[in-house]
Amino acid sequence: RAAGEYTGFVPDMQRRQLMNFVLVTTAGIPVLVALGCYLWYFVPPVAGGGGGAQLAGDVDGNPVTLEAWVKGHKDNDRELVQGLKGEPFYLISTPDNIKDFALLSVCTHLGCVVPWNKAANKFCCPCHGSQYDENGKVVRGPAPLSLALAHTTTIEGKLALSPWTEQDFRTGLDPWWK
Ligand code: FES
Repeated sequence: RAAGEYTGFVPDMQRRQLMNFVLVTTAGIPVLVALGCYLWYFVPPVAGGGGGAQLAGDVDGNPVTLEAWVKGHKDNDRELVQGLKGEPFYLISTPDNIKDFALLSVCTHLGCVVPWNKAANKFCCPCHGSQYDENGKVVRGPAPLSLALAHTTTIEGKLALSPWTEQDFRTGLDPWWK
């Protein structure tokens, strides 16, 4: 009988241990999920890009290598790519590279896409006549602000853009687009 009581006792203990295990595990899952989300927050979206860099795309959305870009452009060329959030950014060519900043081509007046006028060395908005210099700084209204900036970089040889969050080097002001 003593042995019977003993064998009855063991399953009870096991059941209690199992219940404890289930309770602790169940309570732990949301904590693990929350911790995972918290840690994931610190992982950059594109490995190796740093600072939230995203690959730039050509007209078809395909990545472009720096090598191909340099081969296809001359010094001081400006051409659009699909940049951050898929928006149209100008990259600016140098003799054997690109400048370390890109310009959002959206006019700060009412949002027309601003074409580059090579002869005038300016961006001239066809909608209401605003003008921006070769670095996208507004030089004639009604546009109130300069074109937004992004950083340019490469990820494994492919062109990429990342957000510009520090001072605007053209105006010395905090970026209005943050
Ligand atoms: Fe460019 Fe008005 S939208 S000047």
